Amino acid sequence: MWNALKKHHESVADRRFIEMLDGARAEDFSATTQDMRLDYAKTNIDADGRDLLIGLLDDADVGAKRDAMFSGTAINETEGRAVLHTALRNLDGDPVIVDGEDVMPGVLATLDAMSAFASSVRDGSFEGQGGKITDVVNIGIGGSDLGPAMAVKALAPYHDGPRCHFVSNVDPADVAQVLRSCDPATTLVIVASKTFTTIETMTNARTAKAWMAESVSDVGAQFAALSTAEDKTAAFGIAPERVFGFEDWVGGRYSMWGPIGLSLMIAIGPDAFKAFLRGGQAMDTHFRSAAWSENLPALLALVGIWHNQICGYATRAVLPYDNNLARLPAYLQQLEMESNGKGVSMDGADLTLHSGPVVWGEPGTNGQHAFYQLIHQGTRVIPCEFLVAARGHDDALHHQHQLLVANCLAQSEALMKGRTFAEAKAKVADKFSGEELDRQAKHRVFPGNRPSITLTYPQLTPFVLGQIIALYEHRVFVEGVVLGINSYDQWGVELGKELATALQPVVEGAEAADQKDGSTAALVAHLRTHGV
Ligand code: F6P
Repeated sequence: MWNALKKHHESVADRRFIEMLDGARAEDFSATTQDMRLDYAKTNIDADGRDLLIGLLDDADVGAKRDAMFSGTAINETEGRAVLHTALRNLDGDPVIVDGEDVMPGVLATLDAMSAFASSVRDGSFEGQGGKITDVVNIGIGGSDLGPAMAVKALAPYHDGPRCHFVSNVDPADVAQVLRSCDPATTLVIVASKTFTTIETMTNARTAKAWMAESVSDVGAQFAALSTAEDKTAAFGIAPERVFGFEDWVGGRYSMWGPIGLSLMIAIGPDAFKAFLRGGQAMDTHFRSAAWSENLPALLALVGIWHNQICGYATRAVLPYDNNLARLPAYLQQLEMESNGKGVSMDGADLTLHSGPVVWGEPGTNGQHAFYQLIHQGTRVIPCEFLVAARGHDDALHHQHQLLVANCLAQSEALMKGRTFAEAKAKVADKFSGEELDRQAKHRVFPGNRPSITLTYPQLTPFVLGQIIALYEHRVFVEGVVLGINSYDQWGVELGKELATALQPVVEGAEAADQKDGSTAALVAHLRTHGV
């Protein structure tokens, strides 16, 4: 199938896809679910290409593997674990069996416990030493930070709980700045770490504990923990009633649906949090039931595979025209790049395909005034993914939202249409003539024929955000299965962690740098000269 796809690509690579684009194609090359629409008509994929791409799904047995994931099979083979973040949003409680046991009663009990605690923080029945909690500080990193931080910003219009802050970086500037803005007597610190060993999180958690101990007598009382490691949370001094646990079948970057989402739940309330879960669940139902040609996660994955594997475009820009989704690109960087940034297939053989693409982006319209220059006129093609809502949350400023939408649609149109030399000349013919006209016009040419997809939704509600996040999660799953890799481990983060631990005493001056390579030793020496 891969060879057939490559051959097909060769035969269509020079075509300008705008010439295929009529109303019928716009309908045929889009798919909808629950008012959300994915348009991939502005790509060079045609009906034959789509059939071949769908053939990849059948070859890789994606349907059977999807069902295996939902039913609790240990598809994370290198760690021998099931992959069941979907159980966290299975609000109907339909049984999900892992090792012969239904995990749903435990999942729903934890959700109830989180809801009760979040409500008590919100209504003031849980108090700090100085009274009602005014600030929540979530200390975590990677999946224990990016998901809730992204979602708290995304759902700002629904935020009616205490202020939420996120501390992730081991750089003391992060924790110091956040703590300076809080009163320890009315702050709740949530230590979010699946393993409760991550050095950044534990270092920041100890810093927060020392900060609180300066003015609060019962420090542990204003801490909560989100973790699979109950022995370690107890050793840190957090009472079991404020420890919200989850199982090892929830991967860090897939964990915001459960306890790791506690800060979001405190911000927007348990009901809105459940609406977020219902959105994820609705996308699960769609993913499990829609034909591949109508299946949003499958199509999103296939368009990505077409651009990355077949066309050779190594990066993809995610461009939300939704300022509240400002953290979505960062969130997706972990979700996609930690999941599918692998060079070895499930059976241990070297991958013969590329790993997943580099994912990056910023919200529109800001990006337009920064890096869009390169997207439009740079020498390399960057497929773009636009996201936009029909409505914002400020009705009085709806005309401003319409301007945002116009900008979003204009960008995908411009990327596709481009501007020819003749058109560019006509634009400046009144200002220049002769050779100077040609030279000036050349700078104003846009090659066009640059692909993009657009995801539209009615409004960024908790339900819609749940749909969007589950959509991207399942896209990663499909891409991983087609590439034949394990999307659920992350061995590639280990080496740097080990070397950092070994380098710490060298940086501190307790050990000599002579065992290190020349460059590293020289950098340490330079930094030590300047006071590290
Ligand atoms: O180092 C990578 C990683 O393990 C991520 O996968 C994870 O989301 C993050 O670190 C944080 O891990 P933990 O929740 O165990 O602190």
